[in-house]
Amino acid sequence: MNFFNSIFNKSNTEETEFSFEIRDDDVFLVSYPKSGNTWVRFLLANYISDKKADFRSANFLIPDVHFNPQDIDKIKSYPRFIKSHFPYKKEYKKVVYIIRDGRDVAVSYYYHKIKTGEITENESFNNFLYDFFLASKSEFGDWGSHLESWMESKSSSILYIRYEDMKQNAMPVLHRIVQFSNMPVNTEKMQIALHHSSYQSMKEKEETDPKYFFEERKLKDTGFGFIRKGEVGDWKNHFTEKMNDDFLKKYNGIMKKLKYA
Ligand code: PPS
Repeated sequence: MNFFNSIFNKSNTEETEFSFEIRDDDVFLVSYPKSGNTWVRFLLANYISDKKADFRSANFLIPDVHFNPQDIDKIKSYPRFIKSHFPYKKEYKKVVYIIRDGRDVAVSYYYHKIKTGEITENESFNNFLYDFFLASKSEFGDWGSHLESWMESKSSSILYIRYEDMKQNAMPVLHRIVQFSNMPVNTEKMQIALHHSSYQSMKEKEETDPKYFFEERKLKDTGFGFIRKGEVGDWKNHFTEKMNDDFLKKYNGIMKKLKYA
């Protein structure tokens, strides 16, 4: 059993053995896949470092529990920021939880699976939606259950942020994260971080380091990037009326609660 499975198979209430020591003041950036986690990591990596962040440095400064947990003990900044896709983990005491409309998440996830080579470009979005996303086949569990596991939890200090709010104006969102993390608020630094974490800036950084994506992350060279469309509502270009009805049937409660429906 690999590291990931050994953690994931624990139930929410069981103790989990991590390969690193978790501190009470660690700030976990938690999200269901494709909800905007990399954007938040870039914002914070730019805010805490003196140099402009790129994909490598953001990944090193804010390690990912699932990919490079070995780098967590090397973090020099305070507090430590750590990325995770897990549903509720009681060991995570401070959490920034990123929420995104599940329909945009599904679309983004579909393209991501093409980039990882787990599905081919010939697989239709329809198949992916019904056989994978709505069938709750993700290794990170079901989208709605993931959100609910965190939203119903009582034991952690959680700041909820939304991808859609960041798209409208990322500044207040970054401000809230900085305050929540007990870091000094510096407006000028936040503006610089915002600038260097814009869609355009991140896309350029992706394009200048193909080796990182194609060799190290083993992503396929498709017609679109990891930084893909970066939009709110791309689901409307992919969902039929029936798909939307079926999506809302399955996720009626959480979609209403989050005011996405
Ligand atoms: S992952 O693989 O789970 O960590 O993916 P994650 O980073 O959570 O989500 C990827 C989506 O976020 C979009 N993104 C952005 N949108 C707007 N502005 C900026 N700066 C930005 N950075 C990342 C990225 O394009 C993915 O969404 P889609 O809809 O596929 O474009």
